[in-house]
Parts: sequence; structure tokens; C-alpha cells
Amino acid sequence: MKKENSGDVFLVLKFKNKNKEKIRNRYNEYNDEFVIETKELNLWYEDNHALKNINMKFRKNKVTAIIGPSGCGKSTLLRCFNRMNDVIEGCRIEGEVLFKGENLYNNNADIRINRKKIGMIFQKPNPFPMSIYDNIIYGPKIHKIEDNEILEEITENCLKRAVLWDEVKDRLKDTAMSLSGGQQQRLCIARALAVEPEILLMDEPTASLDPIATQKIEDLIFELKKEWTVIIVTHNMQQAARISDYTGFMYLGELIEYGETTQIFENPHQKLTENYITGRFG
Ligand SMILES: Nc1ncnc2c1ncn2[C@@H]1O[C@H](COP(=O)(O)OP(=O)(O)OP(=O)(O)O)[C@@H](O)[C@H]1O
Ligand SMILES: [Mg+2]
Repeated sequence: MKKENSGDVFLVLKFKNKNKEKIRNRYNEYNDEFVIETKELNLWYEDNHALKNINMKFRKNKVTAIIGPSGCGKSTLLRCFNRMNDVIEGCRIEGEVLFKGENLYNNNADIRINRKKIGMIFQKPNPFPMSIYDNIIYGPKIHKIEDNEILEEITENCLKRAVLWDEVKDRLKDTAMSLSGGQQQRLCIARALAVEPEILLMDEPTASLDPIATQKIEDLIFELKKEWTVIIVTHNMQQAARISDYTGFMYLGELIEYGETTQIFENPHQKLTENYITGRFG
């Protein structure tokens, strides 16, 4: 068995219970409650100052929602957490994004480890044009897991966690494109889980889904936070109020207010926040 190169996925899935505990303990050794932190984060697209001095800490095993009107910088902020803005020409970043205390923008930071640890789900489900099974094992294979038994175990485990297993267990070799939109989104979540990330970034993950599929994703997010940290961008105020523990309100590139979701929605301290959540603009 190829233990040496197989990383967390192997450990978690092959010796599920025993090793899961081990990994959890290792994770708990990191005693800071904030898994991601931005320090004076500024971002420009050419001369468009899209993020202005963002100082924000994200708690682990919590769901944090980012809300705000279109164009205020929510997706831009999310993309800073897995360095997806790096590929955008004319994009310049200043400040720090600390993941478990280490700046992701250090010259020697390993972008592959960053992307493995911090997964992203987009508004439009983006399954790869291959089978359901191949979608899930894509990431683990990149991380050098080749044993079929392990790959099958990973597939079952992740599809169960994404509450999709029962719907697809008899058609794993079918193309992922044959799934419904809601199923595709859960497949994308399962695919993200397959490399054992620590953080899931979700950019309006239910915006293209019907209410039933939305409900399934919301239930899933609630389950996910037991093991993962979720940062979700949403335009849906009810959704933010339902599923998040903390909410940040952004406006024109600034973080206007950030706090516990109940406080933001029931007792906003800033007039702008109040106007936004009561639907007076946006
Ligand atoms: N790839 C890009 N190149 C240039 N400018 C961009 C790019 N992406 C975003 N911007 C600009 O940065 C600002 C913030 O955009 P962003 O997409 O982060 O907003 P958002 O809050 O996610 O909006 P929405 O709710 O519509 O998704 C906007 O002014 C936008 O035009
Ligand atoms: Mg956006």
C-alpha cells in the first residue's frame, strides 16, 4: 500500500475511525479559534480599488456569511482565500491573508497545498465532463491515491457526506452532466470534500437552484460545519440568517459591519447594514 504519499485522504478513509480521531486531534492542536484572518487586505483591478482595508477573522467550524449589494467585492474577497485572483491580469493585492497563522501570499507559500486545504464551490455547478465517479476521484488521484479500493471508499464516503449517495449509487459510471442542477451542486461539494479541505468557500451556491435543492444544500452546510469551516456568499438574506453563525456586510469594497448573525439581523449597529437587510437598497 502506498502510504507515504497519500496524505490525509488516505488516512481518513482507509482507517476511518481511528485515524480520523488522530487528524482531528492534530487539528485541535492548532488552538487559535480563527482559521482564516485578513489583515489590512487591499485589492485593485487596475485602478478599481475593489477591497479596502479588510480586517476580518473567520472562526473554525462555523458558517460565516458575506452579504452586500452586487459589485461590493464579496466574490473578490472569497477568491483571495484560495488565491484565485492571482490569475487575473491587472489584479494587485496588498496586506495579508493568514491561514492558520501563515500568510498565503508569502513568496514561499505552496499554492497547491492552499487549494487542497481551501476548496471552492461556485454559483453554477461545474462538474467535469466525465463520470460521477471520475469527478470524485479526480482530486485524490492528483494527490497520488491510486488504489481502487481506497478510491471507491473515498467516493462512497464523500457522496454520503454530500447527501447524494442514495441518488447516484447505482449510476456512478454515468456522466455527471446527466444529473440535475441540485445534484450537480452536491456532486461538486462531494468532489471538494474528496481532498479533505479544511475550509469550504461557497459563492452563491444555491443561486441557480430551486427551493427543494436549496433546502438540501442548506441542510448539508449545517452538517458540514461539524467538521469544516464554511464561508458563504449569498444574496439571500433569509438564507444568511438561517444557516450562518456570523455575518459580514460589505459595501463598495469595505467591510461595514461584522458580527454574530443574530446581532447583524436583529440589531445592526450601522445604518447602512440596517438599510441593506431591510431591503431599502441593494
Ligand atoms: N476579473 C475581474 N476583472 C476586473 N474587475 C473585476 C473582476 N472581478 C470583479 N471585478 C470588479 O471588482 C468589483 C467587485 O466585484 P465582485 O465580483 O467581487 O463583486 P460581488 O460582490 O461578488 O458582486 P455580485 O454580487 O454581483 O457577484 C466590481 O467593481 C467588479 O467590477
Ligand atoms: Mg459575486
